[in-house]
Amino acid sequence: MSIDISARFSGLTLSSCLFNASGPRCTSSGELLELYNSKAGAVLSKSATPGFRVGNPKPRYFENQFGSLNSMGLPNEGIESYISIAAQLSNKAYIVSIAGLSKSDNMQMLRRLQKSGQAVDAVELNLSCPNVPGKAQIGYDFDSTKALLEEVFQVFDGKLGVKLPPYFDMIHFEQMAAILKAFPIAFVTCVNSIGNALIVDAESESVVIRPKSGFGGLGGDYLKPTGLANVRQFYKRLPGIPVIGVGGVKTGLDAFEYILCGATAIQVGSQLMREGIDCFERIAFELKTLMKTKGYKKLSQFRGKLKDG
Ligand code: SIN
Repeated sequence: MSIDISARFSGLTLSSCLFNASGPRCTSSGELLELYNSKAGAVLSKSATPGFRVGNPKPRYFENQFGSLNSMGLPNEGIESYISIAAQLSNKAYIVSIAGLSKSDNMQMLRRLQKSGQAVDAVELNLSCPNVPGKAQIGYDFDSTKALLEEVFQVFDGKLGVKLPPYFDMIHFEQMAAILKAFPIAFVTCVNSIGNALIVDAESESVVIRPKSGFGGLGGDYLKPTGLANVRQFYKRLPGIPVIGVGGVKTGLDAFEYILCGATAIQVGSQLMREGIDCFERIAFELKTLMKTKGYKKLSQFRGKLKDG
């Protein structure tokens, strides 16, 4: 029985529903080309700012058996670099993530992307980086999110999705869904890391990363139940808008659970950092094996069908 794990959303076709989260191993041209030559179904860039950024001081990434804590601070090559590499990535969906430090940064990058025509296939607007000192996560400020999206869609008419922070309260799911419904959003990515978490090393009596007094974004196993909950909430509240799941996907079983909650495609973050690009082939194999056991041939047979009544 041939098992199909392809995904189609917003006019993009992915031979595998699995691809990288904007975060690990997608900053340099070399890393993007590695992803392009891997079994990932798409290539997503590190969140860009208008110019090059070195990011936060190191150590800024920590992992243990339960997941990761990062405070990278948006190190990236700048938007021009992510546009200019597009020509070398043309046989796979290529999505550029942007995370301006201000509204004008975001508008500047979107104008540039608009001018570049079809160079990139889609944009993921990151509303949720918790790691820039002094800058709030815009996705937690509902009025600012709405005001930003109003301007965004005045200058950009390509495919644009948003990457949300995790929400923890039903009223927040409801409010954010109401805002997103008013715009031609191409997809919603749920979720970014749980912001401003703290891991303590008892032996050294110290924090484990240097920026922001040790506070950073929590990913990996720590994040998965929250990621699943957010995918489920937005899948139900935003019919017709594809939801991309991210948070703690290490195995085919994790991917299966995200699809059951309603995810159209799945991003891999902490596990990509740990295992490297081979994770895409392994997770795809595990997902296909599980689907075969259950008698499923394609993702649409179980997408969103979590029994929750
Ligand atoms: C970072 O670069 O600090 C992580 C990006 C993000 O969480 O959006």
